Amino acid sequence: VSDMLVDSFGRLHTYLRISLTERCNLRCQYCMPAEGVELTPTPKVLTKIEILRLADLFVSSGVNKIRLTGGEPTVRKDIEDICYELSSLKGLKTLSMTTNGIVLARKLPKLKECGLDSLNISLDTLVPAKFELMTRRKGHEKVMDSINAAVDLGYNPVKVNCVVMRGFNDDEICDFVELTREKPINIRFIEFMPFDGNVWNVKKLVPYSEMLDTVAKRYPSLKRNQDHPTDTAKNFMIDGHKGQVSFITSMTEHFCAGCNRLRLLADGNLKVCLFGPSEVCYSAYYAISLKFGNGELVRFYLMFLVNLVIAHDDRLQAL
Ligand code: GTP
Ligand code: 5AD
Ligand code: SF4
Repeated sequence: VSDMLVDSFGRLHTYLRISLTERCNLRCQYCMPAEGVELTPTPKVLTKIEILRLADLFVSSGVNKIRLTGGEPTVRKDIEDICYELSSLKGLKTLSMTTNGIVLARKLPKLKECGLDSLNISLDTLVPAKFELMTRRKGHEKVMDSINAAVDLGYNPVKVNCVVMRGFNDDEICDFVELTREKPINIRFIEFMPFDGNVWNVKKLVPYSEMLDTVAKRYPSLKRNQDHPTDTAKNFMIDGHKGQVSFITSMTEHFCAGCNRLRLLADGNLKVCLFGPSEVCYSAYYAISLKFGNGELVRFYLMFLVNLVIAHDDRLQAL
């Protein structure tokens, strides 16, 4: 453990999320304004070489799982190369991606060849008109195609992330559960998190207890699975269903004490918590130039950054 990234709360960081870009081909209401967000100028966005170098440093410091995120990771032109190179890092066990699935179906066979091990696809509604309202773009069918393509290519499970919002999609919970009947889909109902500046408010939150009740009433055989301690999700199965049902209780039962995630932002800044204040992050970029020693200096530097972020995050101070 001494040569791994352990923070001041004793949490062992083995899971790195890398945001490949801030750009996105959707404009989900809870995430962005219609006109999009201000982007980091291109010369300041990490290049493929820089991403690989940084990822390598994190993996030599004990990270064994990398998740590619965004924005939308698939809008990055060199996504296949990045996957190919990352998946060959010695010590990395899992390479995953969280995507909105808009352009995934056609890219997926190549991404799989390039070593992408697992997939989380976001989908908040099964009704095309509601999809268009929420994302301000068309594309519901494309996302469904991507989910099916992932199943056909053998991804198991295919995780589907559904943010539940009162009055928008809380009436679709059981329709989403039906997706798990015949296919190895893991539907994950996520409690809506009101962020600073997003136009939705706390009234949209449907608590875990209520979602669970809705599912348990319709599916009496619903049973809790053993979870992994670092899992954000509470996992359940239903007799006769190929897939699973999970709940991510970010609001009503947070999982900060067991959280093992670090985030590398597209501009090279390091963040710990998704909820962390956006102004508190420090550049991990300089780790690239720390070449001496047998990695100890890099680890020391990364750990210093992680603890610096934590020290400025009031939410984490309450752990
Ligand atoms: P797995 O590796 O498959 O468990 O994925 P994940 O849950 O870590 O990542 P994903 O990108 O699929 O995110 C799904 C949801 O998890 C998000 O919408 C958040 O609600 C929640 N989540 C992810 N990371 C964090 C985090 O650091 N803190 C909190 N509170 N929630 C998080
Ligand atoms: N609350 C909950 N989940 C959110 N996501 C984005 N914004 C929010 C929010 N305010 C989800 C996306 C995607 C995952 C990476 O984060 O829907 O599935
Ligand atoms: Fe934001 Fe994801 Fe929606 Fe794009 S798909 S707008 S990144 S929530």
